[in-house]
Amino acid sequence: MNILLLGSGGREHALAWKIAQSPRLTKLYIAPGNAGTALVGENVALKETDFEGIAAFVLDKCIEMLVVGPEVPLVEGIADYFASRPELGKVKVIGPSKAGAQLEGSKDFAKAFMMRHCIPTAAYQTFDGTRLAEAEAYLETLQPPYVLKADGLCAGKGVLIVSNLKEAREQLREMLGGKFGTASASVVIEEFLSGIECSVFALTDGRHYKILPEAKDYKRIGEYDTGLNTGGMGSVSPVPFATKEWMQKVEDQIVRPTVEGLAAEGLDYKGFIFFGLINCDGQPKVIEYNCRMGDPETETVMPRLKSDIVELFEAVAAGTLDQCTVEQDERAAVCVMLVSGGYPLEYKKGYPISGADQIGDTIAFHAGTAVKDGQLVTNGGRVIALTSYGRDKAKALAASMQAAQTVAFTDKYYRRDIGKDL
Ligand code: AMP
Ligand code: GLY
Repeated sequence: MNILLLGSGGREHALAWKIAQSPRLTKLYIAPGNAGTALVGENVALKETDFEGIAAFVLDKCIEMLVVGPEVPLVEGIADYFASRPELGKVKVIGPSKAGAQLEGSKDFAKAFMMRHCIPTAAYQTFDGTRLAEAEAYLETLQPPYVLKADGLCAGKGVLIVSNLKEAREQLREMLGGKFGTASASVVIEEFLSGIECSVFALTDGRHYKILPEAKDYKRIGEYDTGLNTGGMGSVSPVPFATKEWMQKVEDQIVRPTVEGLAAEGLDYKGFIFFGLINCDGQPKVIEYNCRMGDPETETVMPRLKSDIVELFEAVAAGTLDQCTVEQDERAAVCVMLVSGGYPLEYKKGYPISGADQIGDTIAFHAGTAVKDGQLVTNGGRVIALTSYGRDKAKALAASMQAAQTVAFTDKYYRRDIGKDL
């Protein structure tokens, strides 16, 4: 079958790489894609939110499956748009409806959903600008540090963690005053949880689910989790503290109640659910939901997934996921992100990249790359994710370190400690 994948990051290159291995695939298109996705399929110059353009392309190329990588088209309702047009009704859309995507699109919705279904998460309350005094009073009942979250989508920037009450009050006022536009018209204030984070992923057809390999991502720019937040500097899978017993708790207390809750509330959901978890003294709690895969977690999760992903997607669309098995590669995978010097602040683009074809068994998933006059060049803050397998995570890291030295561009930077904290 012909498949169209939406997105342009390292996550999408990893998804495209996995889809391209399926014998069920005839032709893969990626919109808009990057220089890496062009190696495994054909890039199409369409924006992820141009629903009409995407629909016209799908009809023109006889595309039978649409896989949605990023959250924005889902939160804007691309699945509903396809369902609303009779001539597109047969296209299998992998990604939830607008109603289901609220798990990511509204932090308040996600928290209230968890409360309704007794899913462990931090205590919270939500306030809008009309309830500033109550919001400040609620802050006073909490212990520092204070966690303030814009209700709506903010491209990963809407969460503030502040150490003292005075600053929390100031940030609260700024958020309600439009610091993140309409996304922070409502603010979730929640209890700070301490522990190590872990990302768990499930695929669901709306009734059944399959849990994929778990991963941990590394968000800070500096080694040993120092400095500014980034889109992600690397990931590791599996996660040692995600033991069989811990994952059983995750499934029983979080994954199953979430899928059952979505079904019970009539929220149409066929796609990935990303559970951002924190391990609080052995008890998993939900920090956030996302309605898509994680980046850079996908760059270690896809390599560890042995099953045919297109077969799984077909079962998602047909509602027969219970008849599938998910096989995992026993090896560890470590992803190290090469970034442009200066990132996540200012950085330059357009530097030639060399060595990406001289890294042996390491896989180069492109994030911010482009081809200019036949030359691969940097085209973003996060440039290339280097994923290696190993008998254990130390061996996988060593292989990615070697590749990180081989791939060269001006002002390259990467972390050398991915997975070492675990
Ligand atoms: P989110 O966008 O909700 O994932 O939040 C971004 C990051 O903020 C998370 O990955 C956590 O590291 C941190 N965070 C969010 N909520 C909490 C919380 N309640 N307690 C501690 N850390 C949190
Ligand atoms: N790695 C976290 C995210 O994709 O949101």
